[in-house]
Amino acid sequence: MINPSTIVKKILQGRSLDSAQGTAEAFAPTNIALVKYWGKRNHALNLPMTSSFSLSLGTTGTQTRLSLSDTAQDIFLLNENEMSADASFAKKITDYLNLFCIQSRPHLKIETTSHLPIAAGFASSASGFAALIMALNQLTRWELTLTELSILARLGSGSACRSLWPGFVKWEMGTSEEGMDSHGVPCAQVWPELRIGLLVISEDQKPMSSREAMKHTLETSPLYQAWPSQVARDLDNMMEAINQRDFKRLGEIAEHNALAMHATMLASWPPVFYWQPQTLALIQKIWQLRQEGLPLYFTQDAGPNLKLLYLQKDSETVRSFFPDLIEINPFLFL
Ligand code: PMV
Repeated sequence: MINPSTIVKKILQGRSLDSAQGTAEAFAPTNIALVKYWGKRNHALNLPMTSSFSLSLGTTGTQTRLSLSDTAQDIFLLNENEMSADASFAKKITDYLNLFCIQSRPHLKIETTSHLPIAAGFASSASGFAALIMALNQLTRWELTLTELSILARLGSGSACRSLWPGFVKWEMGTSEEGMDSHGVPCAQVWPELRIGLLVISEDQKPMSSREAMKHTLETSPLYQAWPSQVARDLDNMMEAINQRDFKRLGEIAEHNALAMHATMLASWPPVFYWQPQTLALIQKIWQLRQEGLPLYFTQDAGPNLKLLYLQKDSETVRSFFPDLIEINPFLFL
């Protein structure tokens, strides 16, 4: 059986954590999928059933600082607060770092600054693992390529493989058993007028992790069989919409794709249900505004929160209807 350590070894080709020196710091943006990844063909390696497509959130994401520590175990700080090594956040990082060593490894101080709530469907793990692997690559002077870093980030969290780049990124699902062809690929198109608005309904951690929920959907939802062909169609149409700068089409594809993903979850048994009453109330408000002529769409991930899609020209109007909106300019890095 191919396991994540096999892939790490293959990519590192004899490099190890022993070359770690001093301090390193890296930033990775959060990414929001416009065509979602939902379902794995290999759970251990986070290999997806389909390709997917995302937009990175410019300067919003995770900043990670790594330094060598002479303590008996790793030290974790999240937004300047020390975390216990037992916290699920710390455990995930420890398990991931352990993939990079055979026996012992130097202990690290891992300082994470996250701009968004953790594990609440804001893709904090995507930017988290991407920033971590980039910082590790610097600390150790491994000099791996972004594609190799994307494969390594994927082993931490699937969607993290898209957070290595700004702007639009496609995650090519790949076909090989080892998944060396399953990674992010940056897309040259830019669309500086696009805006993403985050509507925070709840910052609570989600009731079921996306890892568990995907597995459960695949195993029990009769609707899942329709999902791969929907994604294939949506990916083609999304590329056309972007090439033609057709915002209405982009919004419709993204919204339909998100709702179809949630429909597959709802048809699982027991159902996977991330919505809250406020989610539905806000969706109805979006639909109402759209009927009145405002080009406003949404997407939703594994949580109750919504991400609005609109253009810069409508920013003021959208913000007047949603006063708590966190507006992101995804191409601000340019
Ligand atoms: O990479 P994960 O395990 O956090 O899963 C991400 C799943 C979605 O956010 C719902 C979809 C996506 O493509 O990001």
